[in-house]
Amino acid sequence: MEIFHIGAECYPVAKVGGLADVIGSLPKYQNSEENKVRVVIPCYQTTFRSENDFECVHWGKLKLGNFNFPFSVLKETSNKLGFELYLIEIPELFDRPNIYNYRDDIERFLSFQIAALDWITGRSSIPDIIHCHDHHTGLIPFMKKYCPKYDKLKNIPTLITIHNGLYQGIFTFNKLYYLPEFDLINIKELEWGNCINSLATAIKCADQVTTVSPSYLNEINHSDNGLETLFQRVRHKSKGILNGIDTDVWDPEKDPMLEINYSAETIDDGKLKNKEQLCTVFNMNPAKPLFSFIGRLYNEKGADLLPKIVSTALTIFKEEINILILGYGDVEIENQLKQLLSIYSGNYNAYIGYNEELAHKTYASSDFILIPSRVEPCGLNQMYALRYGTIPIVRRTGGLKDTIVDFEDNGNGICHDQASVEDVCDSMKRALDLYKNKENINQIRIKGMTIDHSWKNVSQEYIELYNLIIAKTYES
Ligand code: GLC
Repeated sequence: MEIFHIGAECYPVAKVGGLADVIGSLPKYQNSEENKVRVVIPCYQTTFRSENDFECVHWGKLKLGNFNFPFSVLKETSNKLGFELYLIEIPELFDRPNIYNYRDDIERFLSFQIAALDWITGRSSIPDIIHCHDHHTGLIPFMKKYCPKYDKLKNIPTLITIHNGLYQGIFTFNKLYYLPEFDLINIKELEWGNCINSLATAIKCADQVTTVSPSYLNEINHSDNGLETLFQRVRHKSKGILNGIDTDVWDPEKDPMLEINYSAETIDDGKLKNKEQLCTVFNMNPAKPLFSFIGRLYNEKGADLLPKIVSTALTIFKEEINILILGYGDVEIENQLKQLLSIYSGNYNAYIGYNEELAHKTYASSDFILIPSRVEPCGLNQMYALRYGTIPIVRRTGGLKDTIVDFEDNGNGICHDQASVEDVCDSMKRALDLYKNKENINQIRIKGMTIDHSWKNVSQEYIELYNLIIAKTYES
């Protein structure tokens, strides 16, 4: 089977969040003798692009309404990622350092989708399945189905995976003329809330909808994302599949980003040695338990609670604990976190930015990882933490609910129900008690390290789903 994954991010090529980790690892585990997997993302101005070799396999001109953009398709030549990587280079729109947050994001991602479809349609072999990820690729199922230009792909089934339903790629009908020609009888498929909604369009037009955890699928039927009734309508073609992780990249025994590698047998010493190094950098005492937060600083991740969590916890537990925060995002939250630096120096530190190596080191060094998310479609941090023997402290929501069970219920982590400072501090109190009981904490750490969250089984689940929708397409 020939599978195309199309998305906005792919680790290690271009990463903002977990979307990149998934698109950079699921394809690797799907690639086999029988399954040829190709990944297509835009060509941003990233280090990976400049430091690796590519060959141009196609060039063309795409039409976005009245605008024409030249584009080329670059194939990574070494194949070292474990799948074929194709970058769509549209110099005027993507030759920039960041992935998102430009004023012309709608034009950028629409052009990307058009270029991808132009290229795939023109190839000599057509794929068996097109797997789209999030709203940046949400118009592909529509265009493929209704634009005569892509007739050749008309019967190729599409699947949309929703990594985050809060972002939907919404724009007004004034920009309808950007889309390649289609019979206006189908215009209603694009509409949600009187606008063109890319995610809603994908949900309507794709043959299969998946969310990145079963609990998130249940939640989006009633949660506050504006698409609740649409989700209810497509229940029959929806499935929640829990993400996996790349256990080659996330392996404390072999991780090249760590100076001291360790296993479940050597965790006690291994974690302490890693912690000693990290604490030297961040001016903290390694004898104290280390609580960390790693991630984007947005309200949906509960990051707005962090400044208050830091001040409350360090007031209640005085000098007993250390807190380290790694992330960037909302400038207001960043500033608040920076302001606390001088007040709690010695017990608290923050790295404002994105640093993959530091993230690995922090998982290895921390005793507990704080994940106070308001919304968490899957969450990969808790799975990385478990693998590194770091105990997750999570709010019971989405994928966190599907992966973490409280240790008092014989589980692998610490859970609470509210995204509130009180609930998080209460969990930290229980964590601190647990930390003092060496035997108990080690048992829970080791339990976490032995859980298998690799893509091995999950990637197969997707293949089965592909086969199912391919079979259905032939039936109809
Ligand atoms: C998004 C979600 C996160 C999920 C990731 C990968 O970043 O917010 O919960 O783990 O995508 O699917």
